[in-house]
Amino acid sequence: MYFPDWNGWQLVITIFLILIAYDQFSYIKNKGSIVGPMFKIPFMGPFISALYPKFEEYLAQWASGPLSCISVFHKFVVLASDRDIAHKVFKSPTYAEPCLVPIAKDIIGTSAWVFLTGKVHAEYRRGLTGLFTNKALSVYLPVQEKVYTDYFDKFVAASKANGLKPMGFMGHFREINCALSCRTFFGDYISQDAVTRIADDFYLVTAALELVNVPFSIHVPFTKTWRGKRIADTVLAEFTKCAAACKANMESGAEPTCIVDEWVLHMMESKNYNSRIAAGEEGVEKPTNLIREFTNEEIGQTMFTFLFASQDASSSATTWLFQILAQRPDVLGRVREENLAVRNGDRNRPFKLSMFESMTYTNAVIKELLRYRPPVIFVPYLAKKSFPLTSTYTVPKGAMVIPSCYPALHDAEAYPNPDVFDPERWITGDAESKTKNWLVFGAGPHDCLARKYVPLTMAAMIGKAALEVDWVHHATRRSEEIRVFATLFPMDECPLVFTTRM
Ligand code: HEM
Repeated sequence: MYFPDWNGWQLVITIFLILIAYDQFSYIKNKGSIVGPMFKIPFMGPFISALYPKFEEYLAQWASGPLSCISVFHKFVVLASDRDIAHKVFKSPTYAEPCLVPIAKDIIGTSAWVFLTGKVHAEYRRGLTGLFTNKALSVYLPVQEKVYTDYFDKFVAASKANGLKPMGFMGHFREINCALSCRTFFGDYISQDAVTRIADDFYLVTAALELVNVPFSIHVPFTKTWRGKRIADTVLAEFTKCAAACKANMESGAEPTCIVDEWVLHMMESKNYNSRIAAGEEGVEKPTNLIREFTNEEIGQTMFTFLFASQDASSSATTWLFQILAQRPDVLGRVREENLAVRNGDRNRPFKLSMFESMTYTNAVIKELLRYRPPVIFVPYLAKKSFPLTSTYTVPKGAMVIPSCYPALHDAEAYPNPDVFDPERWITGDAESKTKNWLVFGAGPHDCLARKYVPLTMAAMIGKAALEVDWVHHATRRSEEIRVFATLFPMDECPLVFTTRM
């Protein structure tokens, strides 16, 4: 025996102290030359504050240095606030890959395409980019227009039912975006009941995917993750059913009206092309998007990943857009004027892609909104192997490395007075030329598929709202305080009153 005189307690305490020392030692080793607390709170690190993230704490962390770190339990996390380092993380797929929380695979499904990397990811993604071309985006505008009409009526009715007293509209903005996604993805294949149900429940999926979760909670009834998983399964089943209905309809020669129609059409064109080539025909025109066949389950799951990617970010952008434009009648007035002008004075004229392209001011407002309140403030990545990030610092294998979007978008050198909402910087200023700072949609092989879709839908929504409804923001002392719930929201949930515009 090495410790003949030790009792059990002495042994336990010694092992415990050795573990604490090991935990501190590996933290200090991983930290190397970058900024971070000198010591770690034993084992758990700043776990409690990670459970309730505060925006001010992120600001402080970014300000602490271009690279900084924390360690929560066994996870070592490196935050990159520097724009160029962030680009390096986004664009080094051999060293780092996007890293959703571990529970995401249980909720979305391990086979979902977003978990692919390298060549297979690029190949899958190539087929999907065909669904976001200008031509395809134009196809989706009519179903989207109907969603705006329905939901603006609902907003007005909700305010009326509330006696024209202010009420938080954040939940309503989540709903309109969920409906917008469901209709854009599935057109009329999805029932209004299903849209309303998904819109009501989807925030439970977001809640389940919080950065920090209690292990195994997915199997424990009535926990957040358990509820999130059940909702996700129901949504997936509904989406798979819609995919089957779409295939049957498109086989009958229908015109595409939504994303799955476009996707299935591309599959049909590709199948036709392949069989003609196989039959030895020559001079057959190759389809622009040559893809394989996808099963109903794959289609359902891919649309689920779109809904998941879009829901929080789009709801955040919508909330700030309505809040800020209500506070800035000068800006709203110009948006209204421009939208009426492109419709030749007829406010009922449906929105077209060509209108969007000609609306300089509305475009500037959307870009400024996305810069001023970027919905995605950072994107977690995982170091697949030791990742030499700078000449003096290498991210250890297995660590999380988080490129930040917010600091680049609030960099005073690129955007003078960055904390002022100023659409003019995109018209008379040089904001447009600061392409390296434009990290709203990430960068590199996993950047957002919807970087054109988002400004288009936001412009369509706010243009129509400006023409058809009036809304008043009842600011509270918490309106400018930022709540982090996956993305950024005003702490007071955006109290508004909507009325019909005469
Ligand atoms: C305001 C709205 C949105 C913002 C700010 C936003 C931003 C982002 C960001 C920052 C990323 C990570 C990029 C990276 O790792 O480099 C991302 C990825 C993604 N986004 Fe968006 N997004 C928005 C809306 C949408 C919508 C509406 C869709 C689909 C219809 C969508 C689909 C995706 C997909 C599929 C990915 C993952 C791409 C991949 O892994 O290859 N996003 N988005």
